Amino acid sequence: MPQYGSLAGRRTITERVATLPKAELHLHLEGTLEPELIFELAARNRVRLPYASVDDLRRRYAFTDLQSFLDLYYANMRVLRTAQDFRDLTTAYLARARQAGVRHAEVFFDPQAHTSRGVPLAEALAGVTEALSDSEREYGVSTGLVVTFLRDLSADSAMSTLESVLDLGSPVLGVGLDSAEMGHPPAKFAEVFARARAEGLRCVAHAGEEGPPEYITDALDVLRVERIDHGVRCLEDDGLVERLVRDRIPLTVCPLSNVRLRVVDDLAAHPIVRMRDRGLLVSVNSDDPSYFGGYVDENYGQLAREFGLDASTLAELARNSFESAFLEPPRRDALLAEVAAWRQAVT
Ligand code: ADE
Ligand code: ZN
Repeated sequence: MPQYGSLAGRRTITERVATLPKAELHLHLEGTLEPELIFELAARNRVRLPYASVDDLRRRYAFTDLQSFLDLYYANMRVLRTAQDFRDLTTAYLARARQAGVRHAEVFFDPQAHTSRGVPLAEALAGVTEALSDSEREYGVSTGLVVTFLRDLSADSAMSTLESVLDLGSPVLGVGLDSAEMGHPPAKFAEVFARARAEGLRCVAHAGEEGPPEYITDALDVLRVERIDHGVRCLEDDGLVERLVRDRIPLTVCPLSNVRLRVVDDLAAHPIVRMRDRGLLVSVNSDDPSYFGGYVDENYGQLAREFGLDASTLAELARNSFESAFLEPPRRDALLAEVAAWRQAVT
């Protein structure tokens, strides 16, 4: 078990919360593609970038809504071509996650964003799954892969992606639903999620990020998901909040993402503390950290500073992350014990 010791020597709140063991449950691997790696992969694969420099690219990370981010997010993926590229992307995330105190990560991956560009599914998945399989040994981070379907594409495309993933026999934990939410309610994917469930895969979906509370209800009732990604707009429907509390449905909340994509005006206006106070099972996650100004430790750190969260509350959020994870009891119990040890160690 790690030794935490006194945290007094660590300068910033973010450095202190980086020692808190946590699970990351809402993280798009492609959203960890840092500008420096974009340039490196572009050179490796002879892809011409429409940016003068890393700084020029970074200056474009000023988003007005989810779609304005997605346009850049998909455009930058052009540099990812070979299994090695996907391995490098995944390994860079895992190394950074370890620094952030992540002990378990359930990561999203968008196969259609690559197959639609002519990258063979087997090539992309091989790089990701090889890196993930080394993760616990290399970084102490246990992992699961969640294949996410792009909701602005057809249900047929999602179904054939699922069939191809199953045919390849890759180790997959679950399926999810992401991309442009408004105008793309979950119900269209009912059969895809039923098929995934029949294969024993765990089901999650983005809902209530920009979309209305009904999308959360439909994700639960029609897709029968076990966890909601974002879900912040549930607060607009008291009956839905009561249901989420009663059924202990986890919500994977991404504060810095919500600020950058203008879901909220600023961090002070973020509802995560109100959500927790209403009894919702919320965890803190980074979504697309290379685009949104912070990995998961920075999300905890900025929340702690903004809302004056104490060590007990931070430990509770970390406990929530492990309770929301698709973990088996021995590993879950061990990780919960690490949180308790952290809480004991901090003064
Ligand atoms: N894909 C990557 N990040 C996303 C987000 N925040 N919402 C929906 N789809 C995404
Ligand atoms: Zn997301």
